[in-house]
Amino acid sequence: MNKFYVTTPIYYVNSYPHLGHVYTTIIADTVARYKRQRGHEVFFLTGTDEHGINIERAAEAAGVPVKEHVDRIVDSFKTAFAPFEFTNQHWVRTTDESHKEGVRKLWQAAKANGWIYKGKYEGWYCGNCNEFYQEAEAVKGDGDVLLCPTHERPLELLSEESYFFKLSAFQEKLLEHYEKNPHFIRPETRRNEVLSFVRGGLNDLSVSRVSVKWGIPVPDDPEHTMYVWFDALSNYITAIGYGNEQFGGEEHFKKFWPANLQLVGKDILRFHTVYWPAFLMAAGLPLPKTVYSHGMWLSGGRKMSKTLGNVIDLAVLQKHFSPETVRYFVLREMVFGQDGDFTYEALLDRVNADLASGLGNLASRTLTMVRNFCDGVIPSAGAASTDLTTQASEVREAVEQAVAAFDREFDEYNFSRAIEALSNARFRVDKFISDAKPWDLAKDAAKRAELELVLHTAAEALRFFAVLLAPVLPNATQAIWNQLGESGEVNQVLPSNLNWGDVAQKQIGEIAAIFPRLDKKKVMEEIKQEEAASQAARAQETKQEAPAETKPAEATPAPAAAAAPAEPVPGIAYIGIEDFLKVELRVGEIKTAERIPKADKLLRFTIDLGEAAPRQILAGIAQYYEPEKLIGRKVIVVANLAPRKLRGLESQGMILAASVGEEGRPILAGFLEEVPNGAKLK
Ligand code: MSP
Repeated sequence: MNKFYVTTPIYYVNSYPHLGHVYTTIIADTVARYKRQRGHEVFFLTGTDEHGINIERAAEAAGVPVKEHVDRIVDSFKTAFAPFEFTNQHWVRTTDESHKEGVRKLWQAAKANGWIYKGKYEGWYCGNCNEFYQEAEAVKGDGDVLLCPTHERPLELLSEESYFFKLSAFQEKLLEHYEKNPHFIRPETRRNEVLSFVRGGLNDLSVSRVSVKWGIPVPDDPEHTMYVWFDALSNYITAIGYGNEQFGGEEHFKKFWPANLQLVGKDILRFHTVYWPAFLMAAGLPLPKTVYSHGMWLSGGRKMSKTLGNVIDLAVLQKHFSPETVRYFVLREMVFGQDGDFTYEALLDRVNADLASGLGNLASRTLTMVRNFCDGVIPSAGAASTDLTTQASEVREAVEQAVAAFDREFDEYNFSRAIEALSNARFRVDKFISDAKPWDLAKDAAKRAELELVLHTAAEALRFFAVLLAPVLPNATQAIWNQLGESGEVNQVLPSNLNWGDVAQKQIGEIAAIFPRLDKKKVMEEIKQEEAASQAARAQETKQEAPAETKPAEATPAPAAAAAPAEPVPGIAYIGIEDFLKVELRVGEIKTAERIPKADKLLRFTIDLGEAAPRQILAGIAQYYEPEKLIGRKVIVVANLAPRKLRGLESQGMILAASVGEEGRPILAGFLEEVPNGAKLK
């Protein structure tokens, strides 16, 4: 039996799952089901990436032990994924003991072969991507602060003892591999990008950190933890038995490795096509057959990110759309490999057109006519008029060609074209039915053969579609299968074993609607309200989770009250107006602003609140704002907050800022119009 090993990236537990994570997993699951249906022995892996400084910091901010924090987020991933009924054999976690054993083995093998050495690292580090950047790669921010090119957050200049991986020595070997294996990186455009990157030369890679505690200790040097990408990438082999006893260990590993298909978003292409193959070569292991890099789902034209607040909330999505319709949409709508904009309008249109009016309607009208006109038994193809017989053969040909096209396109990972081929054949079937008007034929006993040929052809086409679409719509196609009176599991039917005509004489099952039509206007209105409420709830949650010392001193006002609908929304701790009025908010003007020696997060301000003397207020925004640029700025101050001491200095109030994204980047609240100092906000 042919084996097939497919993987998704392992998802960071530094944020909650969103459509992007579900997307890659849907692709992997569909491929896994497709291959299984065609007789392959499949291993499908997904999981979570749980180490690194950000996760350590997030746990600290949430005030819980790191393992407890990651367990919680892993649970949220599993819960969000559950309705999709993904068929992964395993969920790897980088905190699994078996994973750690395997990573140690990979490290030791690479080291024993002379590819890992100890040195000193100095570089610009982004804690969010766990990456060092060259100065030239960084983006210049205000005051020439160097920012991460991906996250646009300030980079930290770090200097520390580090182990290095001799990536530079792999340049030629990698290029040779890309040349000899044109399918190693797909699609072609991404392959070209990687080729030119590697041709430009590779630097050795720092693969350990002494500053990060939440990681896997380096064998024989536990002061160091492994670079999170060395740890994370190894999951693809540790999860199937490399260096441990998972699934029987070595034998299982050898059976499934190398992977056939590693799916990744284009955001992590370089890690998977440069670092990962180099690590494997260093340990003398074979390389995956294909790393396929897909595009990003955009929202409002931009990559979905919590920082931008434009992620598609899975709770809202799942409330209105069954997992099957979401699967169908993402596979059909996005040209695999390219970016695509996600809109609920497009999703609604697609579901209504292709599924409710399309496949679902074909099923219900065909089966209802079989029930009403043929006592529930699918007729055989009778000797009908020549014209109708010709049309029926054309329909058959269109369906059979679509079946072949489906596999051809799917094998090239052109999911949308594969599905489109079947949709086009379905249009042909629909037209055949509409032209032949079986409801009229049924009224005329002399047209019995015609009626039977139409219903036979429609039911047969439906049966073929159900089999082909089983990996995409597992439950809906099973329902159609059962309604057609077939037994067993549709996903076990090998498409090449389908025989045109075998549908005849089946007693159909109970008919039930497969895809209800959605009321676009109503659903859109509900979604808009729910999205606003869930954003507000998230803001509130973030506020409650973060302890004062790790958040900027000028904590965020939650927008919950303004955005909350009349109905109480779970997760929002409502307050009465009397509570709100206890907070005295006033307009202040920043008169002076300066850094505080040895406190790299704090700025010291004097702020004029229209009182006799300006107040001294401290705020933890030094990493985000240049003090000189803030002088003269009008801000909002909590004027009746009890004074407290920070770094020995008294802070006599708090400046308000929005807290944006995972890291709580502060954005100072202000005014668009002129406003006097001391004016009260209410
Ligand atoms: N932990 C690393 C991966 C390590 S793999 C050894 C990581 N995790 S992540 O949580 O940030 O997930 C990134 C992956 O999630 C992307 O490569 C992609 O598979 C998926 N997506 C995240 N956002 C996405 C979109 N907006 N659109 C499509 N896929 C997206 O990187």
